[in-house]
Amino acid sequence: MCGIIGATGLDDVVDLLVEGLERLEYRGYDSAGLVLTFPSGLWRVRAADGTRSVSALRELAASAPGGARAGLGHTRWATHGHPSIENAHPLFDCTGRVAVVHNGIIENHAEIGARLQAAGHTPTSATDTEVLAHLIEEHMGTGQSLAESVRAALLVVRGSFSIAVVSADEPELLVAARRNTPLVLGLTDGAALLASDIPALLGRTKRLFVLADDQLAELRPGSVRVTTLAGEEVDPPALSVDWDLAAAQKGGYEDFMSKEIREQPRAVADTLLDRRRPDGSLTLDEARLSDDDLQKITKVYIVACGSSYHAALLAKYAIEHWARVAAEVDIASEFRYRDPVLDPAALAVGVSQSGESLDTLLALREARRRGARVLAVTNVVDSSIAREADAALYTRAGPEICVAATKTLLAQIVALELLALTLAQVRGTRSAEEIGHIIDSLHRLPEMIEDVLSREKEVDQVAEALAGARDFFYLGRNVGYPVALEGALKLKELSYLHAEGYPAGELKHGPIALIEPGTVVVGIATRNPLWEKFQSNIAEVKSRGATVVLVANDGDERAEALADHVLWVPEAEQLLAPVVDIVPLQLFAYRLARLHGLDVDRPRNLAKTVTVE
Ligand code: G6P
Repeated sequence: MCGIIGATGLDDVVDLLVEGLERLEYRGYDSAGLVLTFPSGLWRVRAADGTRSVSALRELAASAPGGARAGLGHTRWATHGHPSIENAHPLFDCTGRVAVVHNGIIENHAEIGARLQAAGHTPTSATDTEVLAHLIEEHMGTGQSLAESVRAALLVVRGSFSIAVVSADEPELLVAARRNTPLVLGLTDGAALLASDIPALLGRTKRLFVLADDQLAELRPGSVRVTTLAGEEVDPPALSVDWDLAAAQKGGYEDFMSKEIREQPRAVADTLLDRRRPDGSLTLDEARLSDDDLQKITKVYIVACGSSYHAALLAKYAIEHWARVAAEVDIASEFRYRDPVLDPAALAVGVSQSGESLDTLLALREARRRGARVLAVTNVVDSSIAREADAALYTRAGPEICVAATKTLLAQIVALELLALTLAQVRGTRSAEEIGHIIDSLHRLPEMIEDVLSREKEVDQVAEALAGARDFFYLGRNVGYPVALEGALKLKELSYLHAEGYPAGELKHGPIALIEPGTVVVGIATRNPLWEKFQSNIAEVKSRGATVVLVANDGDERAEALADHVLWVPEAEQLLAPVVDIVPLQLFAYRLARLHGLDVDRPRNLAKTVTVE
């Protein structure tokens, strides 16, 4: 996946493009490029410098000729073709008068490319994208306008795309289109803008619009015209944005991850806001599913990727325990290929902070095709997943820029617990008193997270003591198991150290063979009915020489006696405890990554929003 930015009608278009790319770097950053339009031709610079690509591009753009009022920028996360200057976007046609930036994958690029080469076109990159430039060139060669040429080109491609195209023949025009990957349009009095995501445009305008699938936009200074790929005129819906630019910037912290970890109490509190009716009963007001709909549900299928999958695993415990409905959890990329059994009494829940993960989007489409009702749990209002779902339950974590999820994950867990409680309420499996008690406990979580954050120095000391370790096993039982998975994921994403998460009871069936002196075992040992069994699991690794770190509740003497290091946390109710227990593991992974001198916001090979299968 990649980041796209574009503008027409601005006197400082280069600044907008570079600033926009800096805000889109979380989408990928292995190369970057920009193109400016002039009636005489296009001016392009590209850089392929790993995490430095956008800053290298800024330096190169300093020598841009003056007078350009339109241009496109792109930051790339390679799918087809190595990260290199040749493969960096914008990509040109044979004449060098058409330039294309693209996010997504053109699945039939090989067959289109072969036909184009036979017709005399010469590719200069190994990307799937370049065929678009040559297809557009072919149509323009027959006298069609840029917009009509883009439309015609897109009719023959398969796959996913957000694209933006410029041509020296119409230097004030940007043409954009999308299918399955995001694109936002913006307007000011004299300019028109486009970007893959809202923060890239927020500094310039709040008049934003969503481009929907299979729509094409023509942007001219001060105006936007949207049509379907079939050519019908469309009025694009305005996007309501309640963030400001400051919320999308670092706010004085060293990096976005520190900022976002510290925003977690707020994210959880905001996600819990306004969820109770005056009579105390729960309501998910953005979820357009009636109580009657929810009563009829016989099974819940939850699909997600990455950290969102861990939130989904936790939701299973809550939904089954409180609402007594069977819940299945699937990795989204596996779900639609396993021939799942669904019917109208099934509720499919897609959990995705970005609302754009293609695997989750496609899994939900499959669930709907098989008759299920679809609910999106996402942080981005009007995201693709939210728009396609029957109903959306929004987390209210604000923009998350660091590639590794933190505050969005905690907000997801809380939102899914609200969903579980709502199901329990409408199905009558828990009394109003019980639900009220759990809601009160949920409201105490922000304070507990704050408490854990205030102990950051103690976590840092543990990380410093273990800075030389190379292998980490995270163990948990019950809801501690998804917490272990998340702790291991955070560590491997941020510090590139070997880390695995396991259900502690499974240890003896294989992983224990890997435990030796020097291995670090991180156990989620907060109080729960399985504590004693868990203690035996920890004793097994300790006797094989592992260094043991336990996340334990304040005052737990057994944990203190068993562990080499303890990450203390306040005690929350069992099913809610993950919201607190994950926090020291985030701080631990953060500190270890920093001790290893790594860029926590932009880990290698990863991207925040994954819009490829
Ligand atoms: C990427 C991100 C993760 C995220 C996952 C799922 O891998 O790096 O932080 O958990 O995508 O993303 P989603 O937007 O669907 O929650």
